[in-house]
Amino acid sequence: MKSLCGQGHGKVILLGEHSVVFGRPAIAAGMALGCDASAQIAERDSLTVEPWNVTVQPDRPAADPNAEQLRRAFGVLLGRCRSERPAIAVHARMQIPGGAGLGGSAALSVAVLRAIDALLEVTRADQDQIDASIAWEQVFHGNPSGIDSAMAVRGGLAWYVRGQPLAPLHARRALCLVVANSGGHGSTKATVGRVGELHAADPAATGQRFDHIAALVHSAKAALETGDHAHLGELMNENQVHLQALEVSTPKLEQMCELARRAGALGAKLTGGGGGGCMIALAHDQTASERIAAALSSAGYVAFVVEVTP
Ligand code: PMV
Repeated sequence: MKSLCGQGHGKVILLGEHSVVFGRPAIAAGMALGCDASAQIAERDSLTVEPWNVTVQPDRPAADPNAEQLRRAFGVLLGRCRSERPAIAVHARMQIPGGAGLGGSAALSVAVLRAIDALLEVTRADQDQIDASIAWEQVFHGNPSGIDSAMAVRGGLAWYVRGQPLAPLHARRALCLVVANSGGHGSTKATVGRVGELHAADPAATGQRFDHIAALVHSAKAALETGDHAHLGELMNENQVHLQALEVSTPKLEQMCELARRAGALGAKLTGGGGGGCMIALAHDQTASERIAAALSSAGYVAFVVEVTP
């Protein structure tokens, strides 16, 4: 039986998560890893996600709250497909962990949509894919900035401001990053909600903090363009101090950042929603990346090296 595939990218946010929800810029780097999916004509619509071992059907409410969210999100995506169509079974395989700040859920939405579109022989513009993915993300997150969806569609190294198209960035040198998972499942919805509360309680002070982060993001763009990774690392460290003040870091994430810096990282910070999930560290070169990843692994964390080529 005909089966067609789609792929969505995972991403890391180099600087600017959370403040990006409030209209400030962020810089993200797409990863080769993300999610792939295949779709085929079936008797009824369904979505299976591995390795989560979950299958949902749009017309059958699920008892488990996570599966129920997935069911609703899948329904939203199907609502963006033409109504006269055969029933479709989609099988998706996550290549990155979910709830880890790596944009897993957006990567999943894009892989699923692309697999369905390939099966239905539909060509969908990038912006249409991004909009459909944002609608899916709203089921999980409530208030997504759209950065994960844009990155899941486009990948690459990019500058993002909410509501604007992703702007490609040109780095002078390859970026040697280490990604390490704290093991805790971070709820982006919860951390975005927490930052929203802080902002509502004191809009001036929190807004000022977002402006400080925005200034770091602007400096980081210049550092990427000139290849000044030592400075880029310092900016990442400063961004982490603000993220800690926004109450989205955890003792484990702090410990991982410290371990990475002691192992020679130029800078380290949480990436994505926080409250658990992943940390990124910037290394001078590939050898340094491997040394940092080894230090994190021997402390019991799952760590891997990501190279972002210019
Ligand atoms: O945790 P992730 O991978 O979904 O990243 C979230 C990034 C935030 O800036 C915290 C939220 C957003 O929607 O931009």
